[in-house]
Amino acid sequence: MADKAVDFLKEAVSNPQTIGAIAPSSDGLAQAMVSSVDWERVRVVVEYGPGTGSVTAAILERIEDRDFFAVELNETYAQGLSERFPELTVYHDSVENIDAILKTHGAAQVDAVISSLPWVLFSEDLQEVLLDKMLDVLAPDGQFSTFTYLHGLVAPKGKRFRERLEQRFAEVSRGDVVWRNVPPAVVYRCKR
Ligand SMILES: C[S@@+](CC[C@H](N)C(=O)[O-])C[C@H]1O[C@@H](n2cnc3c(N)ncnc32)[C@H](O)[C@@H]1O
Repeated sequence: MADKAVDFLKEAVSNPQTIGAIAPSSDGLAQAMVSSVDWERVRVVVEYGPGTGSVTAAILERIEDRDFFAVELNETYAQGLSERFPELTVYHDSVENIDAILKTHGAAQVDAVISSLPWVLFSEDLQEVLLDKMLDVLAPDGQFSTFTYLHGLVAPKGKRFRERLEQRFAEVSRGDVVWRNVPPAVVYRCKR
């Protein structure tokens, strides 16, 4: 566990604008992310930015025979995920290319996106591009779950991110604060 935190931190220090965290997601946050999904309606699910795989492990426990794959930009994390979860398909790529990745994967659309991307660190243009590219592949009744750290709820950029979600989804709700995460976090659950 300590090794995992150190490995995470090494990459986080070298890539502050894309990793945006100082520690892997806690079990509590991983469970909150997985519980935010209405699994009845899901056949294909993708994880955006799985990092070292805390949320991935919780998804794998819940997945049964559903089609699950992950897209990770950081090469060290992508390699680590493939070693830790040999049964999982991990694409070392940017989610900006989700359309092409989905074609390679052989699926027409995804029913749920579970994201650990550090949205509030991204430029507003990049947020727009990534959200719109995701919507191009998300099923008409698709779901999107992501989290934000507590300070992101009150920061102007965090508030604008929530507005972007509300412009794109019919329903946007927020879960309870996961206080045991570092830093504390809340999950956004969005439905088309
Ligand atoms: C907050 S960290 C994820 C933490 C993860 N839940 C864990 O416990 O390790 C955000 C992750 O998003 C990845 N990421 C950032 N931009 C990305 C992009 N455009 N496409 C795919 N992954 C991206 C980063 O490399 C990083 O692994």
